[in-house]
Amino acid sequence: MTFASSVRLFQTLVMSFHSAIVIETGEEERVRTLINKGINELQMAVFEWSVAQGLTRSAGNVQNRWASEYAPPGSQKPQALEETTDPVDALKHIETLQFQAIYWLKDLGPHLQDETVRRQLREVIQQFAHNRSALVITGHSLTLPPEIAQDVVYFDLKLPEPDELYKAVTEVVRSLKGRISIEVKPEEINGLVQAMRGMTLQQARKVIAFAALEDGKLTREDVKRVLQRKVQVLHEEGLLDYIPPEMNPSQLGGFDGLKQWLKRARVGFSAQAKAFNLPAPRGILIVGIQGCGKSLAAKTIAREWQMPLLKLDAGKLYDKFIGESEKNFRRAVTLAETMSPAILWIDEIEKSMGQSTSDADGGLSRRLFGYFLTWLQEKSEDVFVVATANDLSRIPPELLRKGRFDEIFFVDLPDETERAAILQIHLMRRKQDPKRFELAALVQATDGFSGAEIEQVIIVALYCAIHENRPVDTELIIAAVRATVPLSISRREDLHTLRLMAQERFVGVK
Ligand SMILES: Nc1ncnc2c1ncn2[C@@H]1O[C@H](COP(=O)(O)OP(=O)(O)OP(=O)(O)O)[C@@H](O)[C@H]1O
Ligand SMILES: [Mg+2]
Repeated sequence: MTFASSVRLFQTLVMSFHSAIVIETGEEERVRTLINKGINELQMAVFEWSVAQGLTRSAGNVQNRWASEYAPPGSQKPQALEETTDPVDALKHIETLQFQAIYWLKDLGPHLQDETVRRQLREVIQQFAHNRSALVITGHSLTLPPEIAQDVVYFDLKLPEPDELYKAVTEVVRSLKGRISIEVKPEEINGLVQAMRGMTLQQARKVIAFAALEDGKLTREDVKRVLQRKVQVLHEEGLLDYIPPEMNPSQLGGFDGLKQWLKRARVGFSAQAKAFNLPAPRGILIVGIQGCGKSLAAKTIAREWQMPLLKLDAGKLYDKFIGESEKNFRRAVTLAETMSPAILWIDEIEKSMGQSTSDADGGLSRRLFGYFLTWLQEKSEDVFVVATANDLSRIPPELLRKGRFDEIFFVDLPDETERAAILQIHLMRRKQDPKRFELAALVQATDGFSGAEIEQVIIVALYCAIHENRPVDTELIIAAVRATVPLSISRREDLHTLRLMAQERFVGVK
């Protein structure tokens, strides 16, 4: 959706007598643009209210006339109507005004704790149902009391679209002209805009100005800086961790079957597939034994496909207020959609959306799960979900049904070939030439070891080598292997059960 279509939607809501429109956002600047553009053809006045300023007639889209008619002589500042800072007073005042107008109430949410404010708000909403005036209620995180919630319509102001970001970037560039050297060509600005998707306009402006002022020039290279900043911004917001393809060096040994599948699935994102109206791949679930590379596989997919990886922090989704957790989830997936094509990684999905052993969470994980399923089914953007899970018994059976995910993969302990690959990857990562080792002996010795356990014995052997002041060799690694009891022995029963459940139902990754 472009910003222009948001404007049209807003217009339609107003014209169809929606008397209270709720927009959950902190981006007031964009709300202002939305309202002003929205009323452009409607000949309506605009009033703004905040607890600090009171009720003010705003310039709306008739700046010149407004300045002469509503601002005190010689002033460009709007003048607040008297005694309207108190929300009840403001709403009473609005009730008496005979204008067809948009009344924008900023951060009214917290005041709705008060019974009188709630009642007065309902009075106004009911009155407006007949005269096409509308209230616009905004706030960063809005939880409305039920009697208000039933009277309003929610307007989803998505994060800025590329056209808005483009405009913001060019404005910043223009304002910095003369102070910095601009070394990006106009067509390269699109790269910067792409890198900024998922940010608010304000964040985008700050980032671009910072990137330019830091070294006195704006170049193509600044895309990297913008991406780094985005990692931070998203991390601070807390719901998603963002790993751009450039910062994702993962290497995955084995998994040939999965890798093949991914090669085929990738064409689903191509222009050709789109031309044939083919749906893009939706996602996969990777179930399997601990430490066998499920998380690593998720990272590798993003690297192979050169897409941003967005890891959902399930722990941060939960909020003690009813409704907030679902809202957080909605915010996270919307953010992922804004950054599409992207990979949304839900690690250990059974922990956030699985069947809980008690009802302690009041059915929250069920509701989140329901929301997730609907979204997964209906999503239109190119967001590919990679979910991972260890504990099959806690996964709701609906999720395992055919057609939810494109495929469900089962990861077992690595076989000989895979162990050889994993050993080589981890020796090389620690600057050891695999040729110096008897690989066949190591493969033999690590039978029953997971990838994580193989990595661990290499680390232990290297510690030992440094301590004894000698080069690491096959013998040292085998000694570390002998000193380890792998999960395949300590938890033999659990693994056996998992394997039995998974092997006949899911596709192997090999
Ligand atoms: N196939 C593999 N190739 C290379 N390294 C591997 C492989 N499998 C596991 N490893 C190593 O083990 C580490 C742990 O693996 P990872 O976290 O991906 O396992 P997991 O299956 O997600 O485990 P858990 O169930 O505990 O989350 C990885 O960071 C990697 O270093
Ligand atoms: Mg994991």
